[in-house]
Amino acid sequence: MINENRLLRRLQDLSQIGRNEVTGGINRFSFTSEEQQAIELVTSYMKQAGMTITVDGVGNIIGTYGEESETIMLGSHIDTVPEGGKYDGALGVLAAIEVVQTIYEHQLPLSKNIEVAVFKDEEGTRFGFGLIGSRAIAGLLTHEELQKTDTTDISIEEAMKQFQLSPLPLERIKRNDIQAYLEMHIEQGKVLENEELPVGVVTGIAAPLWLEVTVTGVSEHAGATPMPIRQDALAAASEMILAIERILNDTTDSVATVGKLSVEPNGVNVIPGRVTFTIDIRDIDEQKINTLESSIIEQLQKVAERRNVTMTPKVLQRVKPAKTASMLQQQLASSIEKYGVQPYSLISGAGHDAMNIAAVAPIGMLFVRSKDGISHNPLEYSSDEDIVIATNIFYDTVVELVK
Ligand code: GLV
Ligand code: MN
Ligand code: MN
Repeated sequence: MINENRLLRRLQDLSQIGRNEVTGGINRFSFTSEEQQAIELVTSYMKQAGMTITVDGVGNIIGTYGEESETIMLGSHIDTVPEGGKYDGALGVLAAIEVVQTIYEHQLPLSKNIEVAVFKDEEGTRFGFGLIGSRAIAGLLTHEELQKTDTTDISIEEAMKQFQLSPLPLERIKRNDIQAYLEMHIEQGKVLENEELPVGVVTGIAAPLWLEVTVTGVSEHAGATPMPIRQDALAAASEMILAIERILNDTTDSVATVGKLSVEPNGVNVIPGRVTFTIDIRDIDEQKINTLESSIIEQLQKVAERRNVTMTPKVLQRVKPAKTASMLQQQLASSIEKYGVQPYSLISGAGHDAMNIAAVAPIGMLFVRSKDGISHNPLEYSSDEDIVIATNIFYDTVVELVK
């Protein structure tokens, strides 16, 4: 059995780093002092768990336990969205360390090494481009993508160099030696809560396509420009956003979100001349994402023409949906049964580093019930009881895989 007090205390301690005291939201972005502080705390836990620590060229932190020839990897992330919660990513990392520490304390014999990966920048908050560390491990990250910049024009590559990392050549970071990858994560939806189950086995992960749309009109005087001749970029963008919602309302499982918008010049008495907004489109079926992408762009183009503004879409990130390996699903289900819980399968609407690792290894994911399905929000919550049973189940699965 895992040490539940230690795990829960660590979860609490990690949640204090980057915490906004007013809202309770957590802000930990890549290559910042908050992230660095979190890395130091988490690596201290890895050392207590008997692991040796390496950092690869893009800043993935890898704790290794064992000296065998084969390796299974566990992992998740410690960065957050703006005003995020305390469980998304952090729980997966701390549960993985707890599993290893329990194995270490019991001196269980192993046939495979266990690695715990803390992946660099899963959320994509800083550069509008996420899953950076897991992309690199899967050999999917390109040099061109490293040139993406944050709002202050610092590129991913520059940020890495500021933190003494040497990302190039990227091929050096790719891993081909992982026998299996497992990730424990909060569900971030309401399925398990509705089923009254503490945990579930993930069968597939829906992938995000992120677009950034720039609408350009003409910025003019708010008092002196008659309504019929305006080229208002914000009014056009508003119509576009509602068009996206209408398109998605006609689908069954697909979702799309406009979560970020900037208005220029952003003055009370100035007609907006330029608006940039993002679109996050997701489905478990890649073909459906592609079809939605085309119909959304077509509709936005029509709005732009009618309103005499221009519309330019740009792809920020495109990720492939992934299926989990049936062998790992079965192993997780059999560990769940040992704890007297009915195994239940579900898909993940949220994205995870596991999606990328699927390109180089079989993946498995265990979900933990989320209260009210709320996530990417300071109210994100999973109960201590659910976390403890989930981590024990995760422990059992890992022990079965490495024995
Ligand atoms: C990560 O949480 C994502 O699904 O965007
Ligand atoms: Mn997240
Ligand atoms: Mn996450």
